[in-house]
Order: sequence, then C-alpha cells, then structure tokens
Amino acid sequence: MRSDAFVFFGASGDLAFKQIFPALQKMTRRGELDVPIIGVGRSGWTVDQLKARARESLAAHGGVDEAEFAKMAARMKYVEGDYSKRETFDALRKELGDAKAPLHYLAIPPQMFSVVATHLAESGCAQGARVIIEKPFGRDLASAKALNKTLHAIFPEDAIFRIDHYLGKEAVQNLLFFRFANTFLEPIWNRQYVESVQITMAESFGVNGRGKFYEEAGALRDVVQNHMLQVVGFLAMEAPVSSNMHKEGVRDEAVKVFRQIKPLDADDFVRGQFAGYRDEEGVDKKSTVETFAAVRLEVDSWRWWGVPWLIRAGKCLPVTTTEIYVQLKRPPLSQMLGDGNYVRLRLSPDVEIAIGAQVKKPGDAMVGEATELSFVHKASTDEMTPYERLLGDAMDGDAQLFAREDGVEEAWEIVEPVLNDSVPVYEYAKGSWGPHEAQHLAASVGGWHDPVVRSK
Ligand code: BG6
Repeated sequence: MRSDAFVFFGASGDLAFKQIFPALQKMTRRGELDVPIIGVGRSGWTVDQLKARARESLAAHGGVDEAEFAKMAARMKYVEGDYSKRETFDALRKELGDAKAPLHYLAIPPQMFSVVATHLAESGCAQGARVIIEKPFGRDLASAKALNKTLHAIFPEDAIFRIDHYLGKEAVQNLLFFRFANTFLEPIWNRQYVESVQITMAESFGVNGRGKFYEEAGALRDVVQNHMLQVVGFLAMEAPVSSNMHKEGVRDEAVKVFRQIKPLDADDFVRGQFAGYRDEEGVDKKSTVETFAAVRLEVDSWRWWGVPWLIRAGKCLPVTTTEIYVQLKRPPLSQMLGDGNYVRLRLSPDVEIAIGAQVKKPGDAMVGEATELSFVHKASTDEMTPYERLLGDAMDGDAQLFAREDGVEEAWEIVEPVLNDSVPVYEYAKGSWGPHEAQHLAASVGGWHDPVVRSK
C-alpha cells in the first residue's frame, strides 16, 4: 500500500531545505503527494514557520509554483519537540490521525536514529510504517552492523529505505539501461575486450562550509564507499532477474559484485588533501582527513578477472563532472593503433554516451585518426530529480533504488582495511588532479584519463 502520511524529522535542517521541500513540490505537481505532510523539528516553530521555510527553500531551488505550493501548504502540519522525549512522539501519533502506513524520513544526524526509531515504536508511530535514512550508514563495518541491528529491532528490511542519491540519478539508471538494452555491447563488456575501467568523480569546489561534516567523513567514506561502488556495481553486474514477482534483481546482482571485490590493500589506495583545507571552518589545523581518494580494485569474477578498475574522487579538482572511461583492448594491427577504442559514459553535468573509434585519415596512407561518436542528453527542468524519484519510490514501498543491508555491509568490507589514517595523506594544489602520488595507481593502464568539460 502507498504511504498515507509523509513525516520528516529535521524539518528545519539543511537537508529539508536543499532537497526535501523541492522534491515535495515536484511530487505535488505530478499528483503524487495527496497525503498529510508532517514536519517534526526542534526549532520552536509553528506550522506557519514551516510553510515559510518551505517557500524560502523553493525560491532558492527552482522557484515557487503558487498553485502547487498552496496545495502542499494546505497539507502541512508541524510537530515541535525534543527527539528524546516521548511527548513529541505522542503528539506525532495524534497528528497522524488514522494514517495506517506513514513514511518517516529521518533527516537528522545518524546518532539520533536509534532514539527516534525507539520512540516511534513505543508511541505506535512505527506501526505499518516505512523509514528513510540518509548516509552515512555507519562509519565502518562494525557501526554499520550496529545501525542495521537497531533499525531491524523495529522495522523489517523491506520497510527500510537507505538513500544513496546516486541510485536515483537518471544517468546512473541509464547505465543499466544502456548496458542491457543494446545487443552490441554485451559481447565486448568483459575481460576479453576491456583493458581497464576508470571512474572519475571530480568536483571543482571545496567542502562548501561542511568542514565539520567532512572531518568525520573524508572522500573515501563520503562518496567512494557508497556512490562510486554503486556505479561499479551497475557497470560490472550480470543481467539482473527482471520479474514482477522478484523486485530484488538489481540489488542481488550489485551485492554479488561487491562480494567479488577484494578488500583494499594500502597499495591500492592514495589519499590527498587540497592545500588550504585545514583553514576551512570546522576543520582541525592538523587534519589528516582526505579530500581526494584514488583506488584501484579488481572484480574477481568470470567476467572481469584481471581487469583493473580505477576510481578517483576529489574536491577542488579542475572540473565538476563524473565520468566513466572504459578502455577497450587494441586490435592486433600496428598501423591502426591510436587513441580510439573506448566507451565514455558521462553521468554529469550532462548525460553523455560516447564511443571512441579509429577511422582512416583521408589520403594515400593507411593511417588512422581518432574520432568519437557521441550522444549528449541535456537535463531539462522538469526531469525527475533523484530525491523526487526516491521519495516517490519509498512512498510506494519500492526499494530497488535504495541501498540494501547486505550491500552496505559488503561495501564497508571493501574499504575497511584502509579506513582512517592507514595510508599517508598528500597535499595537492587546488585546481589540480590530486597528488602526483596517485599517478602510479594508473601507470599500468597508460595513466588517468582526465575528463574535459567544455564550457557551453
Ligand atoms: C554527497 C556528498 O553524497 O554527494 C557530497 O556528501 C558530494 O560531498 C555530493 O558533493 C555529490 O552529489 P552530486 O549529485 O552533486 O554529484
């Protein structure tokens, strides 16, 4: 059954401001949100202040649509209170009225999950309910397991929706579609034809005032353990079982991929920190937290054995883009050698699929030149945002695009040996491609492929 109330804790927080209100307006516009919307917060607000904050959020993120806003505001309620007090949850229970399947979004710091979940259960608010949580899902394997245990004491796994917003991106879904909807790709998508795979998630900005959060995370925990490994899962998986009876096909296959990746070794990992990071607000003057992570791994499967997978993610790099570069093996004809033979999949800012090929250079000689066949899809404003898609799916109880318990734990197992200060952190200049120490990871595959973003 579709959720019949949408509750969000942390109503006055950053996540609600940046993501939740804009998603709610879009869902209202699509006619997908005709249920009570209940904000819970600790800011001493009234429902009018909640509405005012929603308006402010929309004005800052795509604009207020007055007609939709009026519909949405009419459904809004607000519960004020301390998350550690039972009264707050009794008040929430009252506001829920006769809702039988509420969806509770815990847009609050993870250390509060346990107390909120327990009160939800004791007050009867968890009855028939679903719950959404945001990453980080723990800080390591042990804390991830502890978090799963806490949640499972109250909610069954199929009622838990762990948001990894990468899974809700149009471009990431397109990876699966492109792979399995095109016959020409499957025969070459394996170790016989693929030389190496690189994934670069570059951001040209720094920590944007999130120094305190970043100090707890670092690039490996912030984006590699989750977003990047999910992308590896989509690129490396076998064709998922697709059936209305079994909706776990994609998550089953992704977890298999994670199980086939050996836990990282210190030699497979290079950490960097951009110059000036230690002067950011909320950052320790002697911080050794990485703002750049480069990883080399192997997927030990029949399909991928021996193929190096390289991932790098960092802040203050030259451009903002996420790109996958699949280098194909060279043909055994020396005069036709060149830079072609690759598949390039850009996930942002635009969605791009490109095939690098060698063609003959016009003229007498049998020499080749590189060319690229490329398809670019520019995102339009009415395209679904990841949050809009994911909140709608959670309301429907469809968990396919959410991280699953076993997937989260397997992904922690991969990075576990290199967490914390297990390898040194090297400084890099802002606007560079990270520390030069990262070069050796890609040396055997001809170096890193730096994505180029052309200005529009
Ligand atoms: C978040 C990270 O999960 O993803 C951020 O915490 C990062 O550090 C962001 O900037 C990137 O997401 P997107 O959708 O902008 O690529």
